[in-house]
Amino acid sequence: MTGIVIAIDGPAGTGKSTVAREVARRMRLAYFDTGATYRVGTLWCLREGVDLGNQDDVAAMVATMNVELILNPSNPAIVLEGEDVSRLIRSDTVALQVSKVATNLEARRILGQWQRDVIESERVGGYSEGRGVVAEGRDITTIIAPDADVRVLMTADEEVRVARRAGEGADVATVREAVLGRDRQDATVVEFHTAADGVVTVDTTDLTIDEAVRAVLTLAERVS
Ligand code: DC
Repeated sequence: MTGIVIAIDGPAGTGKSTVAREVARRMRLAYFDTGATYRVGTLWCLREGVDLGNQDDVAAMVATMNVELILNPSNPAIVLEGEDVSRLIRSDTVALQVSKVATNLEARRILGQWQRDVIESERVGGYSEGRGVVAEGRDITTIIAPDADVRVLMTADEEVRVARRAGEGADVATVREAVLGRDRQDATVVEFHTAADGVVTVDTTDLTIDEAVRAVLTLAERVS
């Protein structure tokens, strides 16, 4: 027996992270926020004074950074050089710059390999003790784990996505730029607005979190 892999992709503000975490919590799986790998790479480059426009330097930095992931869905964390940076990677500074790392193809290759390794280790052991993992991002259903047992693309209307993020406390104009600007940038290297073959679309525009969670749990029950 190997563990289940549930892959959830989609743009910001669809409820993807909240839903992924809750599904992992209810199924006692690991929770893997792959966006955090791009964010921590960005933070590390900013801290070390690396020019984010220099593709080779950025790739070299992400290849050597010392990061530990805590995959507990009730208390996920990311530790950089021994420091918990879970909050720092959510700062506006990182949010507005992270696309430079996410559109760096060599950095994507390195971080993508790390993500595959994490997912694979949760299928057989790791935090979940082999029960499996819910991995969320932009290219998990297509590039990183195309053989995942459950593949979901989460969508929601643009205005709803901006409003949800603004509701989390930040200034609306900053949020709009962070959400839509980042989507535009990211969409240049990964497709996450239309579902690939075999990927189920869950549109959360009119769904509560609990309804979206139940939609994913129903898909998971069919395969387990
Ligand atoms: O989901 P998030 O906002 O934390 O993602 C941070 C950035 O990383 C964002 O620019 C999208 C990008 N990303 C990606 O390109 N591929 C992934 N699998 C996850 C995130």
